[in-house]
Amino acid sequence: MDTRKEEDIFCRGISPFPNTESHMRVHDKLDLCRRGLLKAAGLAAVLGVVPLTARPTMAADSRKMKIGVIGSGRVGSALGGVWAKAGNDVMFSSRHLENDTRLAAEVGANARAGTPQQAAAFGQVLLFAVPYSAFPELIGSLGNSIKGKVVINASNPFPERDGEIANEARAKGAGLFDAQMLSGALVVRAFNAVGAARMASAHEDPGKIGMPIAGDDKKAIEVASRLVREAGFEPVVVGGLDMGKYLMPGTPLAGEHTPDEIRSIAATLKP
Ligand SMILES: NC(=O)c1ccc[n+]([C@@H]2O[C@H](COP(=O)([O-])OP(=O)(O)OC[C@H]3O[C@@H](n4cnc5c(N)ncnc54)[C@H](OP(=O)(O)O)[C@@H]3O)[C@@H](O)[C@H]2O)c1
Repeated sequence: MDTRKEEDIFCRGISPFPNTESHMRVHDKLDLCRRGLLKAAGLAAVLGVVPLTARPTMAADSRKMKIGVIGSGRVGSALGGVWAKAGNDVMFSSRHLENDTRLAAEVGANARAGTPQQAAAFGQVLLFAVPYSAFPELIGSLGNSIKGKVVINASNPFPERDGEIANEARAKGAGLFDAQMLSGALVVRAFNAVGAARMASAHEDPGKIGMPIAGDDKKAIEVASRLVREAGFEPVVVGGLDMGKYLMPGTPLAGEHTPDEIRSIAATLKP
């Protein structure tokens, strides 16, 4: 699937920007989209309506998690915003601390900003939501801080956007490639092929949309499942990381499906 199409579909109804890169600076466009996403994520809090899925987390403080969000664009801001509203401590990061500082202020309670290195050190759980091409340099800069941590990778490999690394990831299968690339981390793929706007709003009507998860580590799957639920989706573990190749746009699992539909589709797919 064309990445511009992905962004257009995923951000439709949120961002008024045209589907070309030339009219506005990328960060301005991201800001518009982020604001829309945050508006959706923040609505419940503003109205004093706590999403049902978030209540156990807020009541039982011990279940609160520290989450490092690496890549705070459409996906990172949507999920980080929802998780912070659910009572988790979230640190947003990207290459532009000023954007993350602004984002954290907009999200409010439980949100802060840092560098990717600080977010990786801060989080018990890390969400990666970056262009796949960013990974080699990014991971190199994170040192040992991802080791032993649960990493949820929402990032997708698109050759036209990300170049050769995306071809390699697709050839090996994105899940297996993620594990190799994020060596030492407890990797799961999730949040790969539902629009960022829905990630910000699913908690308003929780449990209707299934979220496929692929992973090999039991603890990582448990943690990811909990965060999937807090975002308003029903987790559906479709298999190990060898099934992660189906967790991206353009596959039968992509898009919005009920949990049962995901189970049925997954049953037809081979690792
Ligand atoms: N958009 C969707 O609806 C959607 C849905 C599912 C999955 N995805 C996938 O999720 C990933 C993120 O998508 P998105 O739409 O959120 O993208 P996006 O809006 O362009 O955001 C990307 C984020 O990554 C940051 N970033 C880029 N390079 C970085 C680096 N080297 N180190 C740290 N941060 C870096 C960017 O900030 P700076 O440029 O300031 O560093 C930005 O905050 C992509 O792989 C995409 O395919 C997208």
